[in-house]
Amino acid sequence: MQTPEMFYRSLGRCGTRVSVFGLGGWLSYGESGADPQTVRTILTTAFDAGINFFDIADIYSKGEAERAMGRVLADFPRHELVVSSKVFFPMSDEVNDRGLSRKHIFESVHGSLQRIGTDYLDIYFCHRFDESTPVEETAQAMDDLVRQGKILYWGTSEWTGAQLHQVHRICDKRNLHPPQVEQPQLSLIARRKFEQDVRPVALEYGMGMVVWSPLGMGILTGKYDKGLSPGSRMAREQWLCKGRYTEQNLERVRRFKVFADELGCSRAQLALAWARDQAGVSSVILGAPRPEQLQDNLGALTLAIDEDLKQNLDNLFPTAGAEEGEE
Ligand SMILES: NC(=O)c1ccc[n+]([C@@H]2O[C@H](COP(=O)([O-])OP(=O)(O)OC[C@H]3O[C@@H](n4cnc5c(N)ncnc54)[C@H](OP(=O)(O)O)[C@@H]3O)[C@@H](O)[C@H]2O)c1
Repeated sequence: MQTPEMFYRSLGRCGTRVSVFGLGGWLSYGESGADPQTVRTILTTAFDAGINFFDIADIYSKGEAERAMGRVLADFPRHELVVSSKVFFPMSDEVNDRGLSRKHIFESVHGSLQRIGTDYLDIYFCHRFDESTPVEETAQAMDDLVRQGKILYWGTSEWTGAQLHQVHRICDKRNLHPPQVEQPQLSLIARRKFEQDVRPVALEYGMGMVVWSPLGMGILTGKYDKGLSPGSRMAREQWLCKGRYTEQNLERVRRFKVFADELGCSRAQLALAWARDQAGVSSVILGAPRPEQLQDNLGALTLAIDEDLKQNLDNLFPTAGAEEGEE
């Protein structure tokens, strides 16, 4: 199948450009995901299709996703890649092996660089807000890493609008590099926090947004029309069902099929094209443990959504009124 041509967007106010679809490693690669040969096939297909943004985190399979993706990324020219990793979640029971303290950030970045096999990260995300560390300490540590060249930009993930205001004020006052990218959840079934809280503030500070779980972890593909299909993510990881695998969402996704059928595309493609079109989105991070899923998803690249369809999707998946799942 011919893959449509990739296109690239600025990461907010930064000069760096990311592919409008990125590829992420959570639950797809590493211990809990595809075998090494399949990882190689998927990442090579992604790179050949023009994907330059690869999103990882230390916590994904406790470092194994960084290793699995790093082994393949090492074969591509480093300057053609935008590689991210993240810090925050506990990597062990050790009291300091968590959070956004200066100590944990410095130790974690070295671990991630080593596991991925790279000299620098393009983006380093604070995977959540840390209530127990002063924001000044986190921002200073990230600024130091930028000045050392170990990371090019730093970002936040799932921070609230108020937390983004707070960190930007601090960076401005202390002349520190501010976070340039936020990584929020966004899909047709999880759009409220993005639209009402995060996006207005991110845009005010010129932050790019790279969005996660655009298929609602698979719900929007229709694979759960007849229940928890064996081997699927929701069947394997039932803790993720809360707020996603709801009768309301499943019913909406069944009705969603009509619109995809009219366009002659899959529901996955329509959901991804919708996320791609949301204002402020720099890149939509795909999750694909199987090569055929990536192929299907890449078909969304050039799918056009006209105003009527956009309105129909807003009516079917209203911003308010659905419970939204958290990771
Ligand atoms: N910052 C954060 O807190 C955060 C949180 C979550 C994710 N992320 C990032 O975002 C990335 C993407 O998240 P995600 O994996 O949850 O994205 P997603 O696109 O919502 O879900 C991906 C899952 O949907 C299924 N799928 C994908 N394409 C399909 C297709 N064409 N047909 C049928 N099923 C399909 C697969 O599940 P099966 O396993 O059932 O086949 C796949 O694992 C992650 O890898 C990670 O990099 C970040």
